[in-house]
Amino acid sequence: MASPNLRETVSEHSFDSSDLHYDLSEVHVWLADLSAWQDPDISCLDEEERSRSARLRFDADRGRYERSHAFLRHVLAQYTGTDPGVLVFKSAEHGKPFLLRGPRFNLSHAGERAAVAVAAREEVGVDIESTVRRVDPEEILTRFFHPADLAAWRATPRAERVDRFFEAWTRQEAVLKALGTGIAGGLGRSPVLNPPAGAPWRLYPIEAGPGYKATLAVL
Ligand SMILES: CC(C)(COP(=O)(O)OP(=O)(O)OC[C@H]1O[C@@H](n2cnc3c(N)ncnc32)[C@H](O)[C@@H]1OP(=O)(O)O)[C@@H](O)C(=O)NCCC(=O)NCCS
Repeated sequence: MASPNLRETVSEHSFDSSDLHYDLSEVHVWLADLSAWQDPDISCLDEEERSRSARLRFDADRGRYERSHAFLRHVLAQYTGTDPGVLVFKSAEHGKPFLLRGPRFNLSHAGERAAVAVAAREEVGVDIESTVRRVDPEEILTRFFHPADLAAWRATPRAERVDRFFEAWTRQEAVLKALGTGIAGGLGRSPVLNPPAGAPWRLYPIEAGPGYKATLAVL
């Protein structure tokens, strides 16, 4: 497989499909700064997306949810050659959304960022996290990660530990999202910082900008 092809879109969601030379062996990752999308056209969202948005308590969360789903639809429409509003999502057993006809994909959103991974043949999982939130890395690594990850994190120089922690976090999430199991798949089953040689997944760091960490997993 070629290296994942990072496509970044920031201020305007003006996708140029003439530029979309889609090789079946490629995986694309699209990133959006949701705050830069001032006046989003959310008319493409379906009823379920609208009702999920309506159930969110805060305006800011509703805005981010709607923007990230509109972004997802606009990205996928470039691959299906359809209108963003006609895409019909189905959900697999543990909730992973998929299209009956269209590429494999996965969405992640955190703070003002959204990431969408798209692949023709392989299952993908993407996770983006804000690294400015307050967390207790040692406690989380102890409870939810393989002991080898805790050991690798402890061996990391102190100045790099926050970054290393979010690297572990996004790696584990990306793998679980590629598998489609979410946390039902079991946390800490496999080391992710130094994955075993025979791991069925491949991991790629995604440059997501200051204050964010992101990983792509490909099955
Ligand atoms: C959905 C899940 C897979 C990821 O949730 P998350 O990291 O909070 O959120 P993300 O923004 O990265 O991903 C959410 C998107 O993933 C997709 N998704 C939902 N279920 C999914 C599944 N089973 N597999 C893959 N993708 C899934 C949806 O598009 C969803 O978007 P939506 O909520 O706007 O509809 C969740 O089950 C999960 O694993 N949460 C656990 C978080 C945690 O406590 N981790 C502990 C330390 S690693």
